[in-house]
Amino acid sequence: MIKSIQINSEEEYRRAYKNSVENPEQFWDDVAETFCWRKRWSKTLEWDFSIPKVKWFLGGKLNITENCLDRHLEKKANDPAITWVPNDPNEETVILTYKELHSKVCQFANVLKNHDIHKGDRVCLYMPMIPELAIAMLACARIGAIHSIVFAGFSSRAIARRINDSSCKMLITTNEMYRGPKTVPLKEICDQALTDCPSIEKVIVYNRTKTTCSMLPNRDVFWHSEIEKVNDTYDAEIMDAEDELFILYTSGSTGKPKGMVHTIGGYMVGAAYTFLNVFQIKPNDVYWCTADIGWITGHSYIIYGPLCVGANTVMFEGVPSYPDYSRFWKIVEDLKVTHFYTAPTAIRALEKQELSFVKKHDLSSIKVLGTVGEPINHEAWEWYHEHIGHKEAPIVDTWWQTETGGIMISSLAGITPEKSTFATLPLPGVQPVLMNDQGNTIEDQVAEGRLAIQFPWPSMARTIWGDHDRYKNIYFSTFSNKYFTGDGALRDSNGNYRITGRVDDIVIVSGHNLGTAPIENTIDEHPMVVECAVVGFPHAIKGNALYGFMILYHFEDTSEKLKLEINDLIAKDIGPIAKLDKIQFVNGLPKTRSGKIMRRILRKIASGDTDNLGDTSTLLNPEVVEEIIAGSL
Ligand code: PRX
Repeated sequence: MIKSIQINSEEEYRRAYKNSVENPEQFWDDVAETFCWRKRWSKTLEWDFSIPKVKWFLGGKLNITENCLDRHLEKKANDPAITWVPNDPNEETVILTYKELHSKVCQFANVLKNHDIHKGDRVCLYMPMIPELAIAMLACARIGAIHSIVFAGFSSRAIARRINDSSCKMLITTNEMYRGPKTVPLKEICDQALTDCPSIEKVIVYNRTKTTCSMLPNRDVFWHSEIEKVNDTYDAEIMDAEDELFILYTSGSTGKPKGMVHTIGGYMVGAAYTFLNVFQIKPNDVYWCTADIGWITGHSYIIYGPLCVGANTVMFEGVPSYPDYSRFWKIVEDLKVTHFYTAPTAIRALEKQELSFVKKHDLSSIKVLGTVGEPINHEAWEWYHEHIGHKEAPIVDTWWQTETGGIMISSLAGITPEKSTFATLPLPGVQPVLMNDQGNTIEDQVAEGRLAIQFPWPSMARTIWGDHDRYKNIYFSTFSNKYFTGDGALRDSNGNYRITGRVDDIVIVSGHNLGTAPIENTIDEHPMVVECAVVGFPHAIKGNALYGFMILYHFEDTSEKLKLEINDLIAKDIGPIAKLDKIQFVNGLPKTRSGKIMRRILRKIASGDTDNLGDTSTLLNPEVVEEIIAGSL
């Protein structure tokens, strides 16, 4: 366990924060020095947000897997690294020690090499939550290949778009995956995707469910047979601190997903530092983050952060409702989980169930609770605090993004004060500012505005794969010399931040970041649809849900069947997570005189807030508003 960078008191936090602002390079030098480098960096930071260019630990050489694995072998070889809980409660939990994980990663690194994967090549992983996903991603990192993990809930078209965007050379998947009582044919979905992915040369298939699947000769090979051909030693490729570690796609406000690029040195330092300090991990703790590795939370806080500091990280293959809603709490009891990190949407779904699901399990091992991905409402916070945290465990409400790589604003468990519905204070090294509508920094302490960050931090994404201009436009053009988060926030008199939600066309549904524009593009493909607009509206469990307004060619057909077809189209093109909860067919959409859809009005109608529509007189077609309100669902 890395000790020297752990903050142990509020006073130490204040000191570290002050130091990180007054002397950022020295601050991060001290943190980075506690890691294992093959060569020390010659320059700590080079940056210019106007280009934008950000580089950390320039000239430093390392391999992140030596930090996640090799350096623990001396003292922690037989300690658990990954504790894996399968979907089926009757299938045994598997513990991989640091030594075992090291050996499996080296073994699979040899497989990758045998199949001609080299430093800089892109490898797409489309896999369920099984240890092989962790092994494959770490094996990529060991040989210097760039992994691009695609959440195994995305459709074949969504996979193809991501594979093609970064021309991945290899795809790693499983024959099927378990999801509660169901199986999902992942290989079949991949086969459909691959009809349109010329860059893929090899597919490695892990047989998870012990059934057959179609295999294309010369392209597809089985994981099991490949690892038999290799040994389990592999000297880690020595990488530059600024070499790419992974690409992770996130929704954008245009149809094309954004491949956020994270580089090795800064990401590692940020993920490990924030993990250790936010969760206050101690030796022998059992840490469980319920996210999927297909999202940034899984990358940073199931794999890289925990393994870098030598923690025992739990990976769960299943869902909270299978075989029943006590599953999470049974796992907490069985494994004596000390740290539990989940999304508000999961808390709200579990809160709605009988309390007996919770009560029948002993949760006394819980020391720290965490939330991520969306604002947590007070009611859910209270339930979590009382029933899961037995009114004692601190709750860290962690605000961050795929783009930030690591937690940016959060309390430090048991160290800095928490405040329900507030993410609270910035972590050392993070300099948030609130911006007003005129694009100026708001100097008042108590304020509300758009959240930006005015100084670089090591784990920030460096670019969007293949499109640096887009990276600049989205994040660095709204406010001069600042990174714009896309979120709104307010600040209280103690400097605590409360995230109020997205201020752009991204909606957080069940903790998933969804752009409304790509969904609209998909709906527009339906032959019956002339034009549509999708907005978010508040939902008791999901946080937000999606509401689609559509103009049709033939208004006679407004059937339920058509609604199903539209949702099927969305599921096929993007994934079931992007389906609409409500669909309303309309004669017109409210537009400005320049022809832009007034989403503000649609958002209000979708959330039932029709008394405060603001001024509609400037609209090109004010008459449609009443009509839409009358037909709203
Ligand atoms: O709107 C914020 C919300 O999730 C967005 C980032 O989504 P994504 O890149 O998918 O990463 C999610 C996991 C880090 C943010 O712009 N968000 C994330 N955490 C919180 C949050 N909103 C409120 N409170 C949070 N703790």
